[in-house]
Amino acid sequence: MLKIQNLSKSFHNSYLGENVLFSNLNLNINKGDFVSIIGSNGTGKSTLLNIISGVVEETSGSMLLQGKDITQMPEHKRTKIISRVFQNPALGTCPSMTVRENLSLALNKGRLINLKYCLRHKTEYLEELLDGISLDLKKLLDVEAKYLSGGQRQALSLIMASVSNPKVLLLDEHTAALDPKTSSEVMKLTQKIVKEKNITTLMVTHNLRDAIQYGNRIIMLHKGEVILDLDEEEKKKLTVEDILKKFEYAV
Ligand SMILES: Nc1ncnc2c1ncn2[C@@H]1O[C@H](COP(=O)(O)OP(=O)(O)OP(=O)(O)O)[C@@H](O)[C@H]1O
Ligand SMILES: [Mg+2]
Repeated sequence: MLKIQNLSKSFHNSYLGENVLFSNLNLNINKGDFVSIIGSNGTGKSTLLNIISGVVEETSGSMLLQGKDITQMPEHKRTKIISRVFQNPALGTCPSMTVRENLSLALNKGRLINLKYCLRHKTEYLEELLDGISLDLKKLLDVEAKYLSGGQRQALSLIMASVSNPKVLLLDEHTAALDPKTSSEVMKLTQKIVKEKNITTLMVTHNLRDAIQYGNRIIMLHKGEVILDLDEEEKKKLTVEDILKKFEYAV
C-alpha cells in the first residue's frame, strides 16, 4: 500500500558534517496496517514521517502509495491523503477557533469554499463525530480550542485528522505530552478510529507498552535500518523487557 524504496536521507551540518539518517531503506506497509514505530532518540522516526508527508525532501529514493509514485507530490497535495497528529496538542487544532469551526475546517480539507458553506454541518452531525469520546468534547462544540485540555485537543486533532478518510495517518508521539490516564483514553480513541475507518497508520511512540498493545505490527528503527519488524502474532509474544534488550544492543 505504502512502499518506501531505497530511501536515503542526509542532513548537512556545518559543525557536525554529514548526518546520514537513511541509506537505501526499504519499507512496505500493507493496507490497514497499524504500525508502532519505536527507536532511540535521533534515529530518524520523525524525519521518516516528515518525508512521507512531504515536509522534508528525501536525498534519494521513491515512495509509492497504492501503486502511484508520490515522490514528487508537493506537501499541500499530500495533506489530502496523508494526515498527521503531532506530539504537541497545540499543533493539530486552531486555538482561536471553536471545536465546531475546527471540525468544519477538517471536514472541508483541501476544498476551496466560502466560510458560510464551510460551517454548514448540523450540530447533530458534528456531535455524532464526537460520540463515545470520554473527554466530553460533545459538550464543548462552541468552545475555542485554546480552552481545551491537552487530552481534549489531541482527541479533537485525531478526529480532525481522520474525518476526511485519509489513506495514511501519521502519529508522532501523539500521547507523549499527556498524563497516563488521558494518554490511555487517547490511545483507545486512536484504536477505535483506525479500526472503524481501516486507516493505514504509522504511530511513533516511546511508550513500549502502547507499542506492544496497539496495532498489528511493530517496527524498530536503528541507525537508518529496520532492526525489528514483527507481525501481530509475533508481537503478542513480545514483552517490554524484550524490547529494552533490543535497545541495549542497538548501540
Ligand atoms: N531539518 C533538519 N536539519 C538538520 N538536521 C535535522 C533536521 N531534522 C532532523 N535532523 C536531525 O536528524 C536526526 C534525526 O532526527 P529525528 O527528529 O527524525 O529523530 P527521532 O527519531 O524522531 O528522535 P526523537 O525520538 O527524539 O523524536 C537528529 O540528529 C536531528 O538532529
Ligand atoms: Mg521524533
